[in-house]
Amino acid sequence: MKNIILIGFMGVGKGSIAREVIKLSDYISIDTDDLIESMENRVVKKIFEQSGEAYFRNLEKKLSVWLEKNVTNTLISTGGGFFKQENLKDIGLVVFLNSPFDKIIKRIKNHPNAVKKLKKRPLLNDIKKAKELYNERLPQYAAVADITIDVTDKSALDCAKELLQKVKQYA
Ligand code: S3P
Repeated sequence: MKNIILIGFMGVGKGSIAREVIKLSDYISIDTDDLIESMENRVVKKIFEQSGEAYFRNLEKKLSVWLEKNVTNTLISTGGGFFKQENLKDIGLVVFLNSPFDKIIKRIKNHPNAVKKLKKRPLLNDIKKAKELYNERLPQYAAVADITIDVTDKSALDCAKELLQKVKQYA
């Protein structure tokens, strides 16, 4: 079993889908933001505020090297900017979760923890800038992906089933 790397924009549902995939398979999952938070003993929002985005991106880079060397058979859920790592494809099979920007924002706003979900993501503070970032990244996500899943209006469970089905073709 090769690693699976979930990429996609903030709020698209990487975490929820990862939780369904592990219920349906032998994978266990880890999350790059969680690992960075435990490395630093502070949350992503604080890292951005206190040390800046460049510092955070450096941690992502360091983590990407570590993942490539040390992690196998794992579903790796990533922060929305992690896909830029040069060695992404050496870490595992890249699965892009895709949905239009407006649907992603709607999904976050409809969540029972919407305020918390928006607050913890510094790059979603300004929706206009977030949309620009989305437009800039969309072709980049698509270009690096081995598999793309359109998650729009689908349950996390259905997306997880589709993911496992598609991944099988690469086994
Ligand atoms: C980021 C996405 C966030 C987190 C950080 C930066 C990005 O993760 O890594 O706030 O650049 O898109 P999620 O995609 O889990 O929100």
